[in-house]
Amino acid sequence: MKNKLIIHNIKAIYTSINKPPVKGENMKNIEVINNPYIVIENEKIIKIATGDFSQLKNNNTKLYDAKQKIIIPGLVDSHTHLVFGGSREHEFSKKIAGVPYLDILASGGGILSTVEATKKASFEELYNQAKKSLNEMLLYGVTSLEVKSGYGLDLETEIKQLKVAKKLNENHPIDIYTTYLGAHALPKEYKEKRDEYINQVIKDLQIIKQEDLADYVDVFCEVGVFNAKETEKILKAAKDLNFKLRVHTDEIKSIGGTKVSIDLKAKTIDHLMAINDSDIKLLKESNTIANLLPSTSFFLNKDYAPARKLIDSGVALAISSDYNPGSTPSENYQLTLQISGNKLRMLPNEILTAATINPAYSLDISGKVGSIEVGKNADLLLLDCKNLDYFIYHYGINHTYSVFKNGKLVIEKRRIVGE
Ligand code: NIG
Ligand code: FE
Repeated sequence: MKNKLIIHNIKAIYTSINKPPVKGENMKNIEVINNPYIVIENEKIIKIATGDFSQLKNNNTKLYDAKQKIIIPGLVDSHTHLVFGGSREHEFSKKIAGVPYLDILASGGGILSTVEATKKASFEELYNQAKKSLNEMLLYGVTSLEVKSGYGLDLETEIKQLKVAKKLNENHPIDIYTTYLGAHALPKEYKEKRDEYINQVIKDLQIIKQEDLADYVDVFCEVGVFNAKETEKILKAAKDLNFKLRVHTDEIKSIGGTKVSIDLKAKTIDHLMAINDSDIKLLKESNTIANLLPSTSFFLNKDYAPARKLIDSGVALAISSDYNPGSTPSENYQLTLQISGNKLRMLPNEILTAATINPAYSLDISGKVGSIEVGKNADLLLLDCKNLDYFIYHYGINHTYSVFKNGKLVIEKRRIVGE
């Protein structure tokens, strides 16, 4: 007989049931089911209903009392730099004093200082540091995660980072999807030979592919990093090898990377604080997701992406944490969502869409996660909140009560089960 789990005494379920990518004003459409129960069998949701469930019970049925919590889909954080060595608190005072992010990078610090630390770190050190962060993320309700390399800038270290992410995927409840970001910065040794580095990255793509270390390729297209032409060259080579694309672009200046990425059908373009009107129009007509990272604006004390304008123009948005040691060192994805309300002026319903079904679509997993629907995996986040608005309004704390991943209880009363 199949093992059955019934989650009952739920105050309400909030979920998108739209077909992704969910664009513009549709992002507001959220289904609310009051006082439901959820039946789970073999990791999947097989029934969502209200009323009496007693006739569904058999000898193998387990019951879980949700104690009047609300339930939303497990969160999907689709842009992180989870695996890195060291930390960058030594740069924080400079940032507070107003030294720009790109100036710190140009003087050999920033990303390049994390590159040094990541090269030095052993596989185990990287694994243990990332696992600690991953546990934090799970406590905040993240059940699917994108993880980039990009702190090696040489093949050996990039592979080390990606293998750490792959191993964590095997051993940790959070599902991890990997992205190769060899073009994250120009290594110091290549200062006078940019083309050589770009060609090296393109060559290394083949090994990343052969060893099946990443599904996605990303480039940091920015003034002083990689320009639009260089970005296009790398992305085209990646696409030819059947990689899917995600791109850091328009973070500080708009230099053409956005158009290049949309033309190449990138899954996401990320940051977009400096996006221009003609690119917004292209974006609206595409299936590329605008992946906004408001915690980065918060930490770097910068402008926020024009989320309202993007939504009102009919674009599909996701919100991600961008967790990394330089521009946003916090695993608190719930805070990122709360900042999205306050600073991006997004509504709670829009935020839910941007944290679940749209990022799932960008990772090609919306067929199995990203919403609470019959047939989907039971990735569920139980929140100690009166309603969805309260989740976004009461900011800075962790609202998680419990988390189910594939129908298995992995967080109970804000504790990792089994630890
Ligand atoms: O998304 N912008 C480029 N990459 C990261 C920051 C990486 C770092 O500073 O270490 C970002 O913000
Ligand atoms: Fe990033």
